Amino acid sequence: MLELGTCYYPEQWPEGIWTDDACQMVRLGLKWVRIAEFSWVLVEPEEGKFNWGWLDRAVNVLGQAGLEVVMCTPTAAPPRWLIDKHPEILPVNEDGVIRKFGARRHYCFSSPVYLEYVTGIAEAFAQRYGQNPYIKAWQIDNEYGDHDTIHSYSPAAQAAFCAWLQRRYDSIGKLNEAWGTCFWGMQYSTFSQIELPNNLVEEPSPTHLLDYYRFSSDQVVKFNRAQVDTLRKYVGTTPVTHNFMGHNTDYDHYAVGVDIDFASWDSYPMGALVNSPKEDTEKASLLRVGLPDQPAFNHDLYRHVGQGKAWVMEQQPGPVNWAMHNQSPQDGMIRLWTWLAYAHGIDVVCYFRWRQLKFAQEQFHTGLLLPNSEPDQAFLEIAQVVKECKLLPEAGERQKAQVALVLDYPSRWAAHTLPQGSDYCSAKAAMDWYATLSRLGADVDIIGPHADFSNYKLIILPDIIIDNPGLASRLSEATAKVFLGPRSGSKTEHMHVSEPLPPGSFKELIDLDVVRVESLPPYNQDQIFFEGKQGKVTNWRESIKTSEEILGHFKSDYRDGHPALVANQKCVYAAAHVDGSLLEKVAAHLVKWSEVELHEGLQEGLRITRRGQLKFAFNFTNETKCLKLPEAAIIYVGAEQIPSFGVVIWSDSPVG
Ligand code: GAL
Repeated sequence: MLELGTCYYPEQWPEGIWTDDACQMVRLGLKWVRIAEFSWVLVEPEEGKFNWGWLDRAVNVLGQAGLEVVMCTPTAAPPRWLIDKHPEILPVNEDGVIRKFGARRHYCFSSPVYLEYVTGIAEAFAQRYGQNPYIKAWQIDNEYGDHDTIHSYSPAAQAAFCAWLQRRYDSIGKLNEAWGTCFWGMQYSTFSQIELPNNLVEEPSPTHLLDYYRFSSDQVVKFNRAQVDTLRKYVGTTPVTHNFMGHNTDYDHYAVGVDIDFASWDSYPMGALVNSPKEDTEKASLLRVGLPDQPAFNHDLYRHVGQGKAWVMEQQPGPVNWAMHNQSPQDGMIRLWTWLAYAHGIDVVCYFRWRQLKFAQEQFHTGLLLPNSEPDQAFLEIAQVVKECKLLPEAGERQKAQVALVLDYPSRWAAHTLPQGSDYCSAKAAMDWYATLSRLGADVDIIGPHADFSNYKLIILPDIIIDNPGLASRLSEATAKVFLGPRSGSKTEHMHVSEPLPPGSFKELIDLDVVRVESLPPYNQDQIFFEGKQGKVTNWRESIKTSEEILGHFKSDYRDGHPALVANQKCVYAAAHVDGSLLEKVAAHLVKWSEVELHEGLQEGLRITRRGQLKFAFNFTNETKCLKLPEAAIIYVGAEQIPSFGVVIWSDSPVG
C-alpha cells in the first residue's frame, strides 16, 4: 500500500519542537521522514571534530515517535572549512569561472581530494547510523545535476578526462581517427595535450564533446558508487537510493540506477510546466495543474531506473521558489499527484518540506505547515489520502505496459553536440510521444536500450541517434512492432555518419537510406499527408530512398510527394518530426497496427491508468467529468462523476 513521508530539517527548528513535529507527522499518517542531506558542517564543524549529539537526538525523537528515517549522506554541501583547505574541489563553469561557496553543490565530481572526503564522511555516517534501528533507508547526496553541476571544467576534470581518454582509446592515433582531427588540423600527439571542450574559438569536434559528456557521466557514476560501496560495509540490507532530478539528462541515470536498491525522484510539476518548451497558450491553460503527463513520464522512467522500485522523495506541496514564476497548484492537486504516483508504480511519496521556513533562500517555498505551524493546504489533502488508503485493497506492483518508449542518454548528448537546428529538443519529442499515447489510453513504460523487450507490442524510438547494432538486432528479434523516428541510427558511437548511410544498422528493420537532412524553422510550411490528415513538419525533415510501402508523403514546394512515413510488417519510419494532431494520428495508427489495448472512456483532460487490478482516472480539468464504469465495477475512492482535479479508483471485478 502507498506510504507517505516528508523531508525534515531538525537543524532549522528549535529542538523543543522536534517531538511535537514528529508526533504530528505520525498523527497525520506519515511513515517516513528524510533528514540530513545538507548537514555536513553541523555534524563536523571542524575537520575531524564531530558533533553527532543533535543528529542522534533527532533520529531518536523521530524514531521513537514511530517514524522510519531516510538518512542522507551530506555530500551535496561541503563545509566552508573544506573549501578553505582545498579550494581546488570547487567546480568551474564553462566560461572557466570558479563557482564559489555560499549555496550548495559546490564541488567537482572529478576532484580526487573531494572523493576522499566524501567517502570519509559517508563512512562516518554509516558507522554511526548503519545499524540504527530507526534508519530504514539511505539517500546518497542530493539531486546530481541540480544547478547545472554535472559538467565542470576544473584542472581536476582536465586531468581525469585525459586519463579517461587514454583508457578509452589506448593510442592517440585511435583518438585522432575517432575525433576526425585531420579536419581543421586538430591533430594531437599525446593524451596530455587534450583539453576540455570549453572556451574554444569555434565549436569542438562533436566526438570531443560527446566523449566529454560520456566522461562527465562516468564521473557521476563513480562518485555515487564510491558512496554506495562505503555504505554497504555498514548498513547491511538497508536499501540505498539517490533522489534523481527529473529532466536532468546530463548523465546516465540507468548507470547510477544499477548501483542502488531503488530509485527516487523529485517531482515539481508547476516549475516543470513553467520551464517547459511548450507554447504560452498551452501553459496558460495548464497553469495550476501542470502538464498532466510530465509527472507520469518520470514515475515510469524512475521505476525503470530503480529496476521496478521507485519513490517520489520530494513532492511539491504548493508554490515553490525556484522556477521562472511560482504559481500555486489548484487545491486538490497534491492529492491528485499522490494518487497518480501510486498508480504509476511509486511505493512511497515524501513531501518537500514539513514546514515553510522563515529565512534563507527557500522562504517562499511552501510546506505541509505554514511558518506558524498551522496546517497548510497540502496537509489537509494528505490527511484525505491517508483516509482513502484505508479504503483500497492492495494493488500489488504495476504490470508491464504494452507500449515502451526508449530513452537513451548518450543519444540526448549526441543531439547536443551537433544540434543542427537551434530548437531541436529531444526531451520534447519523447514527452510529446508519451503524452499523445497516454491521451489515447495507452500505458507506456519508459525504458533504456538494454531493457528486456519481451511482451511489448509496440516499441517507440523517437530519436535514438547513436547507431547500435545490438539494439537493432534485439528489436528485430522481439515480437513487438517498432516505430523509428527521424535521426535514428544516424551517427556511429564516434559521431560519424553511420554506414552505409543512416539509419545504419536499423536498416535491419526497414529498408531505407537517408540521403539528405534539413532542419527547418518554426515558420516552415512543409506538410505531411497521412491517412487523410495533414500536419506540419516540426524542425527536422529527411529525404529518403526506400523500397518500403509509403504511408504518408510530404506536401511542399520542395521535393513534393517524397516519402514521409514508410512501413513494412515490422517497422514504421518517420522521415520528419511531427507533433499535435498529426502525431496523434500516427500514434493511433501504431497502436491499432500493433493491437495495443487502450483504456476506455478517455475524454479531454482525463487520464486513465492501471496498477495491478486497480484502475485510476484523474481529472486535470476544472470541470466535472463523467466516466462510465462497467456494471460490475467496484469503486473504492471517488465516483463516476469526477470533480475537477479529482480522482476515481476502482476495479473492474473483485480484487482477489
Ligand atoms: C529540490 C532540492 C531541495 C529543495 C527543493 C525546492 O530540487 O532537492 O533541496 O531545494 O528543490 O523545491
